[in-house]
Amino acid sequence: MTDNSPQDDDPDGAGAAAPTAALDPWGADTVADYAALFDEFGIERIDTVADALPDPHALFRRGVIFGHRGYDRVLDALAAGEPAAVLSGFMPTGAPHLGHKMVFDEIVWHQQQGASAHAVIADLEAHAARGRSWAEIDDHTRDYLLSLLAVGFDPDSGEVYRQSAAPAVDALAFELGIHANLSELQAIYGFDGTTAIAHMQAVLTQMADILEPQLEAPQPTVIPVGPDQDPHIRFARDLAARMRMFSVTEAYASFELTDAERALCAEVYAARETYAEDPATPRCAEAAAWLRTEAAETATRGSLVAKLENAGMEPLVPRARVVATGAPEAALDALIEQVDGEKRRYGAHIDSFELSAAALASLARAVELAHGGYGFIAPSAIYHRFMSGLTGGKMSSSDPASHIALTDPPADAAAKVRAATTAGQPTEALQRERGGDPDACPVYELYAYTLAGDDDALTETVYTECAGGERLCGDCKAQAAELMEAFLADHQQRRAAAEATLAAMDVELTSPRGRD
Ligand code: TRP
Ligand code: SF4
Repeated sequence: MTDNSPQDDDPDGAGAAAPTAALDPWGADTVADYAALFDEFGIERIDTVADALPDPHALFRRGVIFGHRGYDRVLDALAAGEPAAVLSGFMPTGAPHLGHKMVFDEIVWHQQQGASAHAVIADLEAHAARGRSWAEIDDHTRDYLLSLLAVGFDPDSGEVYRQSAAPAVDALAFELGIHANLSELQAIYGFDGTTAIAHMQAVLTQMADILEPQLEAPQPTVIPVGPDQDPHIRFARDLAARMRMFSVTEAYASFELTDAERALCAEVYAARETYAEDPATPRCAEAAAWLRTEAAETATRGSLVAKLENAGMEPLVPRARVVATGAPEAALDALIEQVDGEKRRYGAHIDSFELSAAALASLARAVELAHGGYGFIAPSAIYHRFMSGLTGGKMSSSDPASHIALTDPPADAAAKVRAATTAGQPTEALQRERGGDPDACPVYELYAYTLAGDDDALTETVYTECAGGERLCGDCKAQAAELMEAFLADHQQRRAAAEATLAAMDVELTSPRGRD
């Protein structure tokens, strides 16, 4: 997720060439307007799903995790005790910092909720897209893994791998590459003719990472990331669908429907008593006539009426439909045979009049798996806010004063906190009179993301005292500095204790790719 190096750190210039892609995985980790992520990019708000959690993590409670795609699917699986996975990846380009610690927390929390947990060291990406040497990468890899363990990752039930030593991921990346072309990478990432091919390969490797937990068996998977990674998430969801042999939809007649048309068609079907000569078999033409007079005029009505008229005397009957989207003939034949009850085949479609869409989908997935397919479920994601830099601007890995590394000597980290920029008033008198702006304060963020841990009373106190002018920045920073020192001392003790665990783990600490 968050490497915060500036764009000129990008050897082949692909990040710099990216203004076409408003969210840039290799650009700066800042978001000007979080609300635009919902409206323009289709990220969904977390509130509704997070509110339903019996015991949400502090990052949900404090709005740090603000958005998601398809996360309900993962939560449903976890609540039902069904398999689910969590995976995220880290580019070992510098020391791990508090932004990475947040992702470690997200992975560990899902692991504790019962998810199978996966952590990826994105060393191929660091090498290809950031130009890091293998020696540097190996150093940082150790540091990431020690901190991951220190935060509570259980290596016995979880998996850690590095991209450069994961043949199954490599093989999947190659297969995925069959379904991706250059124009698409240009459109998604702003790549151009000067982009290094290895950088493009690193994209496919990340797509394979995101699907890696499903190589064992298809399962809902959540990828915790910053919003800069959303282009990767969307692409992975697309590729997962393109790898399928079958797709399942709901239909009412031989023609296909858009989602909007399907919703309207359901209403038309429900009203069949009012217009059908024989309500047991309403005809498409009858439905069209009713729709034209009864429903408000919209583009959806127009297109649905045309489809219904075209189908004429065909009966309007709800059905689950499976479409072969790249299934070998043998798989399609096997599926047809296994669909119980009334069914009809039109070319590469099979309509079932008795199975629900969900039942048909799980049957199709089983047949796909039996015929050498992957049966991928679209991966889900949750998105967290970026931490601000301590010195005002964005947090940057290349500017040590702007962030606190998990390997910083605790006393140095405390000094950085005491020197941090705040969103308080310039004088004590004004602070008492008007209060500070905790929502815009990097020091408040330290409390909310890290220092308060699970203690909501502390974040609330800091917030209200700050906004109410009872809290002065000097005192606030002194308290934060003290907490930071204690937090890091403890974290580093855990890191030291994790050395032995790491040595016993099945992960390559020296990349097989390095020649030095
Ligand atoms: N691209 C991510 C970053 O910039 C790292 C990464 C690699 C990753 N594979 C991943 C993140 C899979 C999430 C899921 O840090
Ligand atoms: Fe930030 Fe604390 Fe000052 Fe408020 S009192 S502006 S939270 S440093």
